[in-house]
Amino acid sequence: MSTNDSTVKFVCTVNGEDVRLRLDPRESLLDVLRERLALTGTKKGCDQGHCGACTVHVDGRRVVACLTPALQVTGRAVTTIEGVAGEDGGLHPLQQAFVDNDALQCGYCTPGQIMSGIACIAEGHTATDDEIREYLSGNICRCGAYAGIVAAVRQTAGATRNGA
Ligand code: FES
Ligand code: FES
Repeated sequence: MSTNDSTVKFVCTVNGEDVRLRLDPRESLLDVLRERLALTGTKKGCDQGHCGACTVHVDGRRVVACLTPALQVTGRAVTTIEGVAGEDGGLHPLQQAFVDNDALQCGYCTPGQIMSGIACIAEGHTATDDEIREYLSGNICRCGAYAGIVAAVRQTAGATRNGA
């Protein structure tokens, strides 16, 4: 059996599932998620690190998957928008808050906004609307749904602080 010598072994977890692949070392985490694992919730906007549409978590910290070589997350835990729902399949509180606050129009930026928003809340950068805007500033929304996005993060952060 022949093996393409230019590929290398890759192991990580994605949304709690073990992933074992052979990869071209040039493949981005974004392309592996979308093209190899069919996790198309993570969006490709600019593919250059400018828009945030591809935001995912690696060991709980947000990264732009388009600029992250897949091999860089070897052995680490990746979470995508497909992995944030509750165990009962219910929406994550921030997903529900996006619905409550009309925080989307076309929805293309939304998975990245939610992944950034979850991290922003976990990091504690939600004291004011200005702070929320600052820490979500890497996520562009061409539809201009920013007011709803900030409101959704504010709502979820408040509920989290109050133990909801
Ligand atoms: Fe990754 Fe735009 S697609 S930042
Ligand atoms: Fe359309 Fe944000 S909802 S780009």
